[in-house]
Amino acid sequence: MATYYADRAHEYERICDKPERQADLQQLRCTVQSRFSGLEVFELACGTGYWTELLASSANWVFATDINEEVLTLARARTVDRRRVMFQREDAYALPALPRTFTGGFAGFWWSHLPRTRIRDFLRGFHRVLSPGARVMFIDNTYVEGSSTPISRTAPDGDTYQLRRLDDGSTHEVIKNFPTKPELIAAVDGSAKDVQVEFLRYYWVLQYTFAP
Ligand SMILES: C[S@@+](CC[C@H](N)C(=O)[O-])C[C@H]1O[C@@H](n2cnc3c(N)ncnc32)[C@H](O)[C@@H]1O
Repeated sequence: MATYYADRAHEYERICDKPERQADLQQLRCTVQSRFSGLEVFELACGTGYWTELLASSANWVFATDINEEVLTLARARTVDRRRVMFQREDAYALPALPRTFTGGFAGFWWSHLPRTRIRDFLRGFHRVLSPGARVMFIDNTYVEGSSTPISRTAPDGDTYQLRRLDDGSTHEVIKNFPTKPELIAAVDGSAKDVQVEFLRYYWVLQYTFAP
């Protein structure tokens, strides 16, 4: 998965151009911008910085992380206020102890790539970088027949996969899960309050307050 996104770095944002998704995308952008206004945000798997740029327009500070230097290089080239954004290479599954905790936590289009068996562990590590009461948001894709890349196989554990083709002709099998609302709520049970899940046509949004 990490290698696929390194190879796809220069093609990644084309996904945002799909005309039928523009209304939903605009709604997501408003939700993200207002949710983190004035906060210190930890962004996980920031990719090329599409959401980082938006977060930085309202948050007090954004610490944006990703495992791939290829995408971080593109993210660093964005016109963001350097005093309010810092990019750093980090593995989502092995986040270090940081000298501070954050009042906001955000990840866009990351959850769908989480193997089901790793969700709990991942959340434990992610929550460690947050302050109690932090606002958290995950956004990701819903599966829409005719618009989404078809699911190529379902593993015995329920994880689903897609075959993705890049401009260089290479094909990559990528894990891509489409959780239901009850699954999302269950995943954060025990560490969240004020949980909200909204399903738009093309995207879902999970929001909660971190309550350890
Ligand atoms: C679907 S992209 C989302 C990028 C960005 N959040 C966005 O919405 O534009 C997934 C990102 O996860 C990153 N990634 C893959 N494995 C990772 C890991 N173990 N730790 C942190 N980031 C990872 C990839 O490099 C890629 O940038």
